[in-house]
Amino acid sequence: MTLTLPGADTITTAVELASRAPSLHNTQPWRWHYDRAGLKLYADTQRLLQDTDPSGRELILSCGAALDHLRVAMAGMGFKSVVERFPNPNDPQFLALIEFTRSVFVTDSERARVDAMARRYSDRLPLRAPRGWAEFEQLLRPTLGPDVELTVVPDELRSSLERASTLVEGLRRYDSRYHSELDWWTGQAFGSVGIPRENLASAEESERVAVGRQFPHQGNVDRRTEVTEDRSTVVILSTDTDTRRDFLRCGEALSTLLLEATMAGFASCTLTHLIELPGTRGVVQQMVPANLHPQVLVRIGAASGTEVPAPTPRRDVHKILEIGI
Ligand SMILES: Cc1cc2nc3c(=O)[nH]c(=O)nc-3n(C[C@H](O)[C@H](O)[C@H](O)COP(=O)(O)O)c2cc1C
Repeated sequence: MTLTLPGADTITTAVELASRAPSLHNTQPWRWHYDRAGLKLYADTQRLLQDTDPSGRELILSCGAALDHLRVAMAGMGFKSVVERFPNPNDPQFLALIEFTRSVFVTDSERARVDAMARRYSDRLPLRAPRGWAEFEQLLRPTLGPDVELTVVPDELRSSLERASTLVEGLRRYDSRYHSELDWWTGQAFGSVGIPRENLASAEESERVAVGRQFPHQGNVDRRTEVTEDRSTVVILSTDTDTRRDFLRCGEALSTLLLEATMAGFASCTLTHLIELPGTRGVVQQMVPANLHPQVLVRIGAASGTEVPAPTPRRDVHKILEIGI
């Protein structure tokens, strides 16, 4: 294996594309550094949501998604990534060192995955059932890797999820710190982080998605009214242990899942409010094989018509990438 050092322009383009990765409330909690040792991914703990995500589990999940996006971007430009996770045991925020080799050929699917990064978005409106799910699932499973288990929530357990979702809102009712974070990061038209109001559901739309997180700010038009009830398929990604390494690997698998869904023409929305409280995480745990730890849920379905919101903003690449070559 002959390693190569891609040019700074290539790395800058790849990091910019990788920034399209999903992150909790669009916090984008990542930093990159490129030098002769390779490209280094760090967790940006200043972007930790202390009251929503006190352990930083979702922060690392988000960074895992960015890591996989980076790998996809580099593959599209003819480089294979060699990833070492947590390369320095004395620096827990140093999540990955990525080195590169030249690939022999860029396949059409690799290019299609790059296109999917630009098209993917979190769709909080009700979705139709994903047509052709069985075939999609068959193709999807082998792409997720051995460390992460995919469970499809059967229809008969859907109402338990919906009840747990309502329970979360009840348990959070007087949690002013959680609400203050949610309020700050969502629904406002500011800068390059957070979720703009147009990307959130209206009150009426939220009622049609019983498993969604409730946001304090809401969109003010009712869209996709022909879909009277969310019919998405809900999947759970779980890991066999519950460590930072698992969170990172699960974030990578989340990215793969979302990009594969986008390539198949499906819309998707990541959901984590159920996992943030032990009681409702326990409800989700009962839906996955014994001893597994659920990390994240995703709604996947068909979005009809033209209701694709404008992309959520991202931070300038020069604010998140340092080049030391
Ligand atoms: C770890 C993680 C947790 C998330 N949790 C939720 C959630 O509970 N509800 C939701 O509507 N979106 C959730 N999202 C989606 C983010 O809000 C979304 O990725 C971010 O706002 C960027 O927007 P985009 O996905 O449209 O690019 C989550 C994303 C990640 C990576």
